[in-house]
Amino acid sequence: MTDFIHCFEPATSAGSPPLLLLHGTGGDENDLLGLGQMVSPGSALLSPRGRVLEHGMPRFFRRLAEGVFDEDDVRRRALELGDFIAEARKQYGIAAPIAVGFSNGANIAAALLLLKPDALAGAILLRAMVPLSDPPKAALGAKPVLLLSGQADPIVPASNSARLAALLSAADASVVHKVLPTGHQLSQADVTLARDWIGNVA
Ligand code: MLT
Repeated sequence: MTDFIHCFEPATSAGSPPLLLLHGTGGDENDLLGLGQMVSPGSALLSPRGRVLEHGMPRFFRRLAEGVFDEDDVRRRALELGDFIAEARKQYGIAAPIAVGFSNGANIAAALLLLKPDALAGAILLRAMVPLSDPPKAALGAKPVLLLSGQADPIVPASNSARLAALLSAADASVVHKVLPTGHQLSQADVTLARDWIGNVA
């Protein structure tokens, strides 16, 4: 299996969609398990650890500075993550997952949506930004995407998250974009909105 350290928790409720949990910079495969359980109780949880290290902190792709990405690496790593998902689906017998990504994990999920749409059934993107300056023309076929941004996020300017929402909508995703009265960190509202959204789309 493509070499991602990961954690897998099988579903405990047959009707709940599998989730792919993607942590932020400096996190690991355990970080979002609690969030996944809150957002969709009973779902299978597939949670890989990013393979890039930045001063010892795991991430999903290389960056040149905060908010400035090594886009060749974004492309390569997104496809590598897509391969991992395909292999994990076979090994664990799960359907295409809904990604739940935070920060760097949300950015790789957005890249994966644009580069390999079939890898995901949908995505919850928490504090995401545009991952590629010149993305391929993707066809997302009404795939559901929830984008939750922070109004006072020092890392993701409002114009950038609005651009991401527009980019995904132009690729035919069914995008819900909400801007919350918070910063880059997650809030209780993220959990509630994500849980309600998943209840409607799954
Ligand atoms: C990124 O590098 O993906 C973004 O700057 C978010 C972060 O990880 O801080």
